[in-house]
Amino acid sequence: MSIIPEIVIQNQLTLPVLGLGTWEMGGRQKADTSEDKKWLHAIDFAIGNGIKHIDTAAIYGAGHAEKLVGEAIKNHERNKLFITTKVSGDTLQFNDVLRSAAASRKRLGIDQIDLFLLHWPNAKVPLSQTMSAINKLLEDKTIRYFGLSNFPVKLLHEVAFYTEAPIITNQVEYNLFTRNKASYNQNIESEVIPYCHKNGISITAWRPVLKGDSSTLTHPLVQALTTKYNKTAFQIALNWLISKPLMLAIPKMTSEAHILENIEAVKFIMEAEDILALDGITEAAV
Ligand SMILES: NC(=O)c1ccc[n+]([C@@H]2O[C@H](COP(=O)([O-])OP(=O)(O)OC[C@H]3O[C@@H](n4cnc5c(N)ncnc54)[C@H](OP(=O)(O)O)[C@@H]3O)[C@@H](O)[C@H]2O)c1
Repeated sequence: MSIIPEIVIQNQLTLPVLGLGTWEMGGRQKADTSEDKKWLHAIDFAIGNGIKHIDTAAIYGAGHAEKLVGEAIKNHERNKLFITTKVSGDTLQFNDVLRSAAASRKRLGIDQIDLFLLHWPNAKVPLSQTMSAINKLLEDKTIRYFGLSNFPVKLLHEVAFYTEAPIITNQVEYNLFTRNKASYNQNIESEVIPYCHKNGISITAWRPVLKGDSSTLTHPLVQALTTKYNKTAFQIALNWLISKPLMLAIPKMTSEAHILENIEAVKFIMEAEDILALDGITEAAV
């Protein structure tokens, strides 16, 4: 089984730099059971090849993605896996958060959620209220750790006032070609990441392989590096990403080929000058 490099977060948690995303496994906003076999195989194959961290959410397929994850992990040792799920930003009232965690736990078939994220912020619900629920879930050991997703600096800062627990991660859209113009957050690279680094918060990059869209990866620098390292353009993009400190990537991968390709992508080290050159690619350049 392959060993994926790991990072230590907030001095208390070690996580592999590569995990498995599950958005669109089992439907989008509604459950779609028509391809369950395919998704179950993908999750099982990923775990069998060394993937330990699985990212899902209450809203994915209206809970069906969580059910699939629950089904797939039954065949594996629970304590060797790390399961992240999220409460929808539409249900951040105190009781809603507790209910959501309970429902996720049930669908996942696990006693404790390893990492529980607020999927996106909600200006209509005071953060103090949401965080009281998170503190309760932590106290009750319903969740091991908590984190955020799509949170801007101002709110990350505010969250820290309402809990003594460490913020493990901020999950945001970030990849080689999406730096400061992500769909939900602006200034990820210029503001959010520096704030997170300063405060020991990891970044979980969603959409790390650009949704499998290779059109931007035809950039001449990326192409030159594919030749230099004998890797695919997606491997270069993923390797660049996880070369950053406190960075986790959770590509959604279904095909066996993509799973193996992405695992190989995090196992080599590019020269510093190449990473620096890739840093210099900006959204404006594409
Ligand atoms: N927090 C949030 O708001 C948020 C938002 C969106 C996503 N997410 C999380 O982040 C995860 C990843 O984001 P995403 O699914 O939107 O985008 P993504 O991981 O960048 O792209 C997934 C697509 O890329 C393909 N792919 C994977 N590896 C590849 C490779 N080496 N070469 C070519 N294509 C490859 C996959 O194909 P196959 O499936 O056919 O292998 C799939 O179609 C999600 O699944 C979800 O868990 C979080």
